[in-house]
Amino acid sequence: MVLFPFLVPLLLSSFVLASSKWNGLSHGMHKVKVDSYEVQHKATGEPLPPLDTVYYFDQLIDHDDPSLGTFQQRYWVSWDYYQPGGPILLMNAGEEDASAYIGYLTVSTITGYLAEMLNGSVVLLEHRFFGQSNPYPDLTTESLRVLTLQQAIDDHEYFIENVQLPIPGGDQVGPDKAPWVLFGGSYPGALASYTLYNKPDLFAAGYASSAVVQAISDFWGYYEPTREYMPMNCSSDVEAVIAHVDEVLDSGNATAIQALKDNFGLGSVTANDDFAWALATVLQTWQDLLESGSGTIFYEFCDALEVKDGQSAGPGGWGLDHALAAWGDYYQNSDFLVDPGVSTRTTQTITPISGPTPITGTGRGIGFCVTSSGSGKTAPPQGTPTLVSRFAQPERWERQCTYFFPEVFSSPPDTSLAAARTNQQYGGWNVSTARLVFANGVRDPWREATVAANASPNAGSDLQPHLIGEGFHCSDMLTAEGNVNPSVKAVQQQALQYIAQWLEDWKPSA
Ligand SMILES: *[C@@H]1O[C@H](CO)[C@@H](O)[C@H](O)[C@H]1NC(C)=O
Ligand SMILES: *[C@@H]1O[C@H](CO)[C@@H](O)[C@H](O)[C@H]1NC(C)=O
Ligand SMILES: *[C@@H]1O[C@H](CO)[C@@H](O)[C@H](O)[C@H]1NC(C)=O
Ligand SMILES: *[C@@H]1O[C@H](CO)[C@@H](O)[C@H](O)[C@H]1NC(C)=O
Repeated sequence: MVLFPFLVPLLLSSFVLASSKWNGLSHGMHKVKVDSYEVQHKATGEPLPPLDTVYYFDQLIDHDDPSLGTFQQRYWVSWDYYQPGGPILLMNAGEEDASAYIGYLTVSTITGYLAEMLNGSVVLLEHRFFGQSNPYPDLTTESLRVLTLQQAIDDHEYFIENVQLPIPGGDQVGPDKAPWVLFGGSYPGALASYTLYNKPDLFAAGYASSAVVQAISDFWGYYEPTREYMPMNCSSDVEAVIAHVDEVLDSGNATAIQALKDNFGLGSVTANDDFAWALATVLQTWQDLLESGSGTIFYEFCDALEVKDGQSAGPGGWGLDHALAAWGDYYQNSDFLVDPGVSTRTTQTITPISGPTPITGTGRGIGFCVTSSGSGKTAPPQGTPTLVSRFAQPERWERQCTYFFPEVFSSPPDTSLAAARTNQQYGGWNVSTARLVFANGVRDPWREATVAANASPNAGSDLQPHLIGEGFHCSDMLTAEGNVNPSVKAVQQQALQYIAQWLEDWKPSA
């Protein structure tokens, strides 16, 4: 706190995303397989550069001080459906290497689908500090000064105003000449909302999927959609195990606590709140679920608890004894990789990487502190049923900041203040802007941080429709999900109609 006082607000208000996103378990938007990168223009048959062709944009390192120069920000483009005058659909890949999201250039996704419908071009942009789009050759605290929400928002503006796209007429596509639409899911969804709120009239339209717009430091709502929609026998048994875990932890009986941790193969996890987190990690695989395929770990786990001698338990589950043993067995003997708790990591593992190898901004750049303002997944208050131990509290998250950024945080910060500031600055779920579609799914674990949250006072409007289907996290961005779930399809169709209408009404200003 003493060394770099400026960093505290910057880091803490930077990202509103998942702590899970850097523990290697769950990510935001789903990746989509691309069968072939070869592509031709659909109307002319002319061969186009392969989809994985990387382009570079000279982005300002610091929008508050252009004299600091530029860095190379990577992007990818598809224009197989493009006709001059068509919209440019910009998607920010968020907190990961963007090359994993090339599928969003194709009709397997909402962006490619809209490009086909409207003769548009899709541009996939890598977020500063991720993949190979690094303002500085290291991830020191000093460099991370320019990792803030506002810099990421300003990146959008500077990019669309200055980029020369490889598409026909691509040097004449500023936002005054061509309609740009901003897309994103999860954190990039929130970024889309923040951008349209912060810079009204820059984009012709926006699409924010599972957008975690509301920063919440004590985010117990994360596990609520899971509890509501998971198989009932499994939730009964998980709740029974967790009630027992809390009873033992509360007892303070060191022998019993050690035996309990050993049951899960977590005997070496000292802090009770780290143990609580480790037990919750399997529940977070709910975030990977899709109806059209992947993300089956969650159900594997429930099967492990609920299927005994070829028989499934009824809604009440098998009860504590069997569930405790089965969960322990699953943690010790399945392929599932339990996160033993980040506080076991030392500062050594976060030594900035520099030198000739390009840094990949997934490690320290996404350290928990940077993300903490909206991601402290915790247990609900007493009296509310819970899937996670009540030892999971914000303090555990705040403590991580002292491990990751010891030079900044000599003591754990109060993340609720940073969350309030972010909500104040970018509207949170109260946001009111124009020509932005919010797409959500009731089964999304992040639902309670979106405009679809039960607590959100905001019902939306025709200029800012809040569309809610039965989807999971970001599932409305995938064409295949609409094909297997009519309510997701309905969200996609309505979103596309809104956007098509707004684009029809759009006029160039230059
Ligand atoms: C898309 O381009 C085709 C020509 O390839 C044209 O016939 C069609 O009307 C265009 N659609 C839109 C929505 O502009
Ligand atoms: C502590 O737990 C152990 C193991 O469950 C038990 O044998 C022992 O009686 C407990 N001690 C107290 C003081 O309750
Ligand atoms: C019980 O568990 C099995 C296996 O996970 C699952 O297939 C089934 O739907 C569950 N039934 C109920 C009533 O929860
Ligand atoms: C959001 O709206 C609610 C209810 O209208 C209000 O109490 C709250 O202060 C607002 N929050 C922000 C950040 O504007």
